[in-house]
Formats: sequence, C-alpha cells, structure tokens
Amino acid sequence: MIDAQTALAQPHVTRREDYSPPEWLVPEVALDFDLDAERTRVKARLEVTRRGAHDAPLRLNGAGQAPLAVLVDGVAVNDWRLDGEDLIIPLAGGRHVVETEVEIAPERNTQLMGLYASGENLCTQCEAEGFRRITYFPDRPDVLARYRVRMSADKARFPVLLANGDPVASGDLPGGRHWAEWHDPFPKPTYLFALVAGDLAVNRGTFVTQSGREVALGIWVRRADLPRTDHALDALKAAMAWDERVYGREYDLDVFNIVAVDDFNFGAMENKGLNIFNSRYILADPDTATDYDYDAIAAVVAHEYFHNWSGNRVTCRDWFQLSLKEGFTVYRDQSFSADQGSAAVKRIEDVRGLRASQFPEDSGPLAHPVRPESYIEISNFYTATIYNKGAELIRMMATILGPAKFRAATDLYFSRFDGTAATCEDFVACMEEAGEVDLSRFRLWYSQAGTPRVSVSISDNGGRATLRLAQHVPPTPGQPDKQPMVLPLKVKLFGAETGRPLTPERLVLFDTLSESITFEGLAERPVMSINRGFSAPVIIESDRPATDLAFLSAHDDDPFARYEAMQQLMLDTLVAATVEGRADHRAVIDAVANTLGDATLDRAFVAEAVLLPSESFIGDQLVTVDPDAIFAAREALRRDLGTALAAQWRAAYDEGDGRPYAYNPAAKGLRRLRNVALGYIAASGAADIAPLAFRQFERADNMTDRQAALTTLVNGDWDERAAALDIFYNRYADNPLVLDKWFQTQALSTRDDTPSAVAALAAHPDFTLANPNRARSLIGAFGANQRAFNAIDGRGYRFLADQLIALDRINPQTAAKLLPPLGRWRRFDTRRAGLMRAELERIVAVPELSKDLFEQASKSLE
Ligand code: PHE
Ligand code: ZN
Repeated sequence: MIDAQTALAQPHVTRREDYSPPEWLVPEVALDFDLDAERTRVKARLEVTRRGAHDAPLRLNGAGQAPLAVLVDGVAVNDWRLDGEDLIIPLAGGRHVVETEVEIAPERNTQLMGLYASGENLCTQCEAEGFRRITYFPDRPDVLARYRVRMSADKARFPVLLANGDPVASGDLPGGRHWAEWHDPFPKPTYLFALVAGDLAVNRGTFVTQSGREVALGIWVRRADLPRTDHALDALKAAMAWDERVYGREYDLDVFNIVAVDDFNFGAMENKGLNIFNSRYILADPDTATDYDYDAIAAVVAHEYFHNWSGNRVTCRDWFQLSLKEGFTVYRDQSFSADQGSAAVKRIEDVRGLRASQFPEDSGPLAHPVRPESYIEISNFYTATIYNKGAELIRMMATILGPAKFRAATDLYFSRFDGTAATCEDFVACMEEAGEVDLSRFRLWYSQAGTPRVSVSISDNGGRATLRLAQHVPPTPGQPDKQPMVLPLKVKLFGAETGRPLTPERLVLFDTLSESITFEGLAERPVMSINRGFSAPVIIESDRPATDLAFLSAHDDDPFARYEAMQQLMLDTLVAATVEGRADHRAVIDAVANTLGDATLDRAFVAEAVLLPSESFIGDQLVTVDPDAIFAAREALRRDLGTALAAQWRAAYDEGDGRPYAYNPAAKGLRRLRNVALGYIAASGAADIAPLAFRQFERADNMTDRQAALTTLVNGDWDERAAALDIFYNRYADNPLVLDKWFQTQALSTRDDTPSAVAALAAHPDFTLANPNRARSLIGAFGANQRAFNAIDGRGYRFLADQLIALDRINPQTAAKLLPPLGRWRRFDTRRAGLMRAELERIVAVPELSKDLFEQASKSLE
C-alpha cells in the first residue's frame, strides 16, 4: 500500500528528453466569461484538429475545476473521462468543435495562479501552467490558438473589461451588467492569455511606430495611483522606440495595455497586448519610490514590452526552453537600461546581482543548467540561472559575433521562427549561421551547470610575458564530471610604471583545460586586466598582488575593470581578516581615497566602486562561512575607512546636500554617493551621526534620501531610531509599497536583536503572508541578512521554516521561492548545518505539502 507520504515522495518528474509534439492542435478558441468574484462561469469553444496519423483522444488539462458540460460538434456527450485532473475526450474525426463549461472561484484563489481577485479587481496569471485553472485546454506552450474573449460583469463593480489583442465590441446588459469582446489576431499559447476586470483609471499615451501606425497605450491603476504612472508610461515609449532602433522590432497591435495589481507572484507578465504588473514595478513618484525603484520600473516595463517579440511572436516549444525567451529578454532589457544612463554602472549592478543570486544558486543544491533536464514543478525554474545566467550566454554570443553579425543573427531568428514555438538550439543555430561561427562547443553553456573557475597568472621575462590560463567547472547535482567551456575573455595589459596600455584589448576564446598566451615586445612590466566588462560569467582566481589591484583600480581604462580590481582588493583583505581575525587595511583605504578624490569620475561610478562586497559574497569565498567573523571583519574595515577618510566622506555628503530633487543620471549619482558617504560616516562612529541622519530623514524631498537615512538610523541604537520608524510608518500607512520598505529595512538591520525584531514584526497587524510583496519584504529580506538569519541558536532557521509551512498553504509558489537560504547548510559549520537540515526535514514531513515546496526542500537536503 502506498500511503500519502510515500506518494508525495515520488511526485511526477517531467523530463526534457520525453518531449513529443502535441497530438491535437487548437487553431481557434472562443471564451465566454460570466465574471463574478465568488463564482465565475467559463464557457470554452475549441476548434481542434488532429495532428498527424494517430488515434489518441483529445487531452485537455484542468486543475481544481470539474466539467459542468461537454459538447462535441454541438451535441452533449458523456463518453469523456478524467485522468487525474485532465479531461479526456474521444474524438472520431480529424476536426471537431469541443465545448466545455466550468465554474471557478476567483476570490478563493490565494495561489494567484489562474483567475484571481486582487483588491477589488479580477485578473489572471497563466504562466507557466495557470490557464488550466481557468478552463480545460492543452496547457502547453507549443499549442498556439487565436483567441476571441467575451466577458460580462456587473457594470458598477467592474466598469473596465480588458483582454488580449484589440477591443471588438461592447454593450449593456439587463440587471446592471455589461459585456465586452476582445480579439487577438496573433496565435498564442495559453500562458500569454490575460483578462482584467475592475474599477480602474487610465493614463493614456500614444506611440507612432516606425511604419507610421498609431498605437494607443494605457496604464491602468486604482484611481488614487494615477499620479504615479507617468514614469512607467515614459519608459514604455522609450522601450518601444529602442526596440525599433536596436533590433528593428515594431509593435503589432493597435492597443498596448498595462495593468498594475497589488497581489502578484513575480515582477510582471508579458501577456499579449495586456501586460499585468506587480504594482511595485509601475507606481512611482519622488516621495514614495527610490532611484532604485525608478530604474527597476523602467527595466521591467521594457522587459515585458520586449517579450512581444522575444517570447510572444517567437515563443518556447516547452518549458525547458524557458531561457530562450527569458535570457534573451533580460539581455535586451539590460542593454536598454545601459543605453539610458551609465553603461558601466549598469554592468556593475548586473554583475553584482549575478554574484548575489546566481552564483550561490550555481554552487548549491538547486544548481541546474540554463536549459534544465527535468523538473517537478516548473514554477521553481524561474531562477537567476534561467534569467541572468541565460542573459550572460546571449551576451557572450553577442561578444563573439560582434554587433553587426549579432543583429543579423537576431533578424534571422525573428524572421525564421515568427509565429512558432522554438528552442534554445534554434536560437544558437541562427547565431552560427548569420554569425558565421562554430558554436558547437559553446552549447555546453546550455547543458552544464556550475560557475567555471579560471585561474590566471602572468609571468614577466623582460619584454615578453606569458599569460597562463586554467579552467575548472565544479561538480553540480547530477553532473559530477564537466568538460571545459568556451570562455570569451577580454584581456589587456598595462605598464606598471607609466600606467599606459601595452596592448590593445584582445578577445581570448579560452576553450581548453589550460592554455598559455605569449605577449612580445613589452616596454615595461605588465599588469593584467582580465575578463574586462565581465565578458564571461566566471570566477577569476588570480595571484595579482594588492599593489597591482590598487594600480588597476586607478589606471584601467575600462570602468568595469577598475571596479573589479577594487572589489578584488577589498575581497582579499576581508577574506584575510575573516580567516586571521585581522588584516592590513591600508591598501584598501588608499585605493578608496584615490577613487573618491578623482573628480573626473562619474559620481554613480564612485559610489559603486567604494562599496565593500556584501557579507554573503565574502562568505562565498570561504570553505566554511562564519557569519559573525565576516560581519566583524567587514564592520572593522568600514570603521577604518570611515575614520581615515572622514573629511572626504563629509565632502561627498555635502556635495549632494541641499539640491532639490531631480531625476536624471547626474542627480541620481550624487544621491547615491551621498548616501554611501552617510553609511561610512555612521560606520566611523561620528558623534553627530544620529542627528545628521535624522535631519536628512526629515528634510528629504525624495524617498531615496529618506530611506537611506532610515536605514542608517535602523542599524543603530539612538532615540531617533524609534522616532523615524514611527514617522515613516504613519506617513505611509496607506501605501502598501512603502510599508514594504518599512518591514524590509528592519529585516535587513545589522543590529544584534534583528532575529527577535523580525519575529515580532511577523505578528504586526500590517503583516500578511497573503500578499507576496509583504511576505518577501519581511521573510525574504530576513533570509538575505546573513548574520541575523544564521544566528547560532537556530531561531532564524526555525522562523523561516514556520513561515514557509504557513505560506505553503496559501501560496506555494511564493513559499518555494523563499526557501533557498535554508539550502545553504553545506557551506556552514556542523552546528548550523544540523539546525538547517532539521528545519528542511521538518518541512518535507509536512502532510499535503505542495510539490513546489517539496521539490525545493527535498533537493536541498540531498
Ligand atoms: N514571464 C515573466 C517575465 O519574466 C515572469 C513571470 C513568470 C511572471 C511566471 C509570472 C509568472 O517577464
Ligand atoms: Zn521575462
């Protein structure tokens, strides 16, 4: 007998090698929604055609509903059956019309997949497999249908009715109801379906495409939020123009709508012609959104818009190909953002993000290739590896091809696969063909997980130097042995005495286990600048001494490489300090002083360059993470930097003081540097820090400065701390996005009492697990607070497990996303590792655990 627990331990695994094309196609579908928050009726009319010679019945996926009626060619039938949740209908011919009717309950849908209620609105989320929770259908991305959607609803409660494509007709109905019909001429998979019903206000704009078509743009939000939508609308127009200019991609419908909702599992969704957004990636004004928020909004608006071509016009054959659309689209949004401001600062931010989220994933129990081989729950594969490492793969191919050939290759890809569901292999084949390169070995990047480690050294023989490279890809789950990868490394040599370039920048395609490259005719001792611009997403292990790193941080002509040299210098110092308990801080202090004093540098760049590596990144360099030692080492360096360079921090602080708010790259750079300076002034233990930060908090005319001041105060132990938290809370009590910041700032606090403070906040009346943003603002932030989360008594682990178990019953997808900090047990001492494992085991043993959380927790234990 199989009991529930055993059955749970063997959940269904979907494998890439098992892919087979669909047996039935659905060229046309008509949906009729009788909308109501408690009970919605959905009638579906599918025109189905048999594909190829077979006698298999029609299989329609379903989840959580039951068929109220099944008709074939207009006649009610009863020879259907259910296989699990799928509806199986025997069909005799090659073409039929199949109709079904179901009833669903949006208000009870706490998973936020399918049709659900967010506040007063009804909206949908279908990627990856949410459509089956709305109606019976082949819910897979390689079945492309043309949709006609009719909605009827109470007119007072849901005056606005939106769906994909273009509006066709609308009208009133008896009983205070009304209806609207939309038609999307582009065949699309289920995951791109969307509808929205609600009392929404709109910020309208227009965009004239390169061929002269006028597109009506609309950003739909709660009426009170309308003043916070201009930035998103501007970003949308900029993204539309950019995609025409850079990729030759034009928008293809007469309308493009964006709706913001407060309850959303991810950032946003690229539904055809009707993007649905987490409101945090739409709403902004200076009083409530930081510069970081403004940048993220522009990036996500652009990302979702760019999916119209990379994702919608050309979609994915199956979910193993997810990076085909996500990696490419992230690369496109990164390039867009780089073009809006400082490309160097953007690259620094992206690399920092990759190191913070993707590198740990790639070295932990949940490591998977950019094109995975299997999954239990596809929602668990919307990862930094698929998105951000995937983007690095596209970037490497763009580097190898060069701009002109890369553009020719993307043109070929879009034209060859327009209207189809493609694979990663199709994309690479276009790169090869139009790029006239052989990428056979490059393809390993799609199949091998793990971050390659490259050791580099250069020996100088008076005028001639030899660069030695060796690579190693560490084992990852299911992949014990690795082959060498193709690594495009940008290399340049500088003269140690003059600082002048000794060679031009050179692209080395390093694709063997080890290799030597000789440089001749060098006038002076060379200093090596390598992996410039982070041309390959690898870990460089070099033996460059502190003097060379300091030298590069001052002389390299690639700003990214300057940043990297400084980071490496800081990291070497912090690792030594962590391991040995103390270290010489002088080289770092001198290098930071030099960068701070260089008036020719962009202030935003300076702000990035003088920031120390994060506690978790320092931990990633160590055999065993000692969170308390890391914290102490980092704080000691911060204190010394703060004290030694006190005058320079004050000058940087004052430089940005008293300027009225403006949103442009220069003003943003000044704010950033000023707030970094504030942090160092605080670290120095300056006597006036609390009044200084409180003054900034009170006088700020923007959220960037206000939140930075709050963060400083929250990390300390002054009367101003509680005062600022209260003022902030009361001022923004009715703005959920800002209240998220209030929770998050406290969860990230460096104070010793953060674990108990966080536990208390979980009982705060404004805390709820039902809203993903709020759950992440406390639980997600706490999991990222290395020292607090890893408190030696294990209470951080217990807290996280308790919250995840509770959240799993409401929203398994969001719960599973928050689990990874517990899976890092192998990196810690035996005591912490044991405590973490015990919590993972407790999670896995929960009856009726979702397969989302089961997959993450059980893989984390292996
Ligand atoms: N496809 C979305 C994006 O990256 C992300 C997403 C996935 C949103 C799944 C919701 C659900 O643009
Ligand atoms: Zn995306």
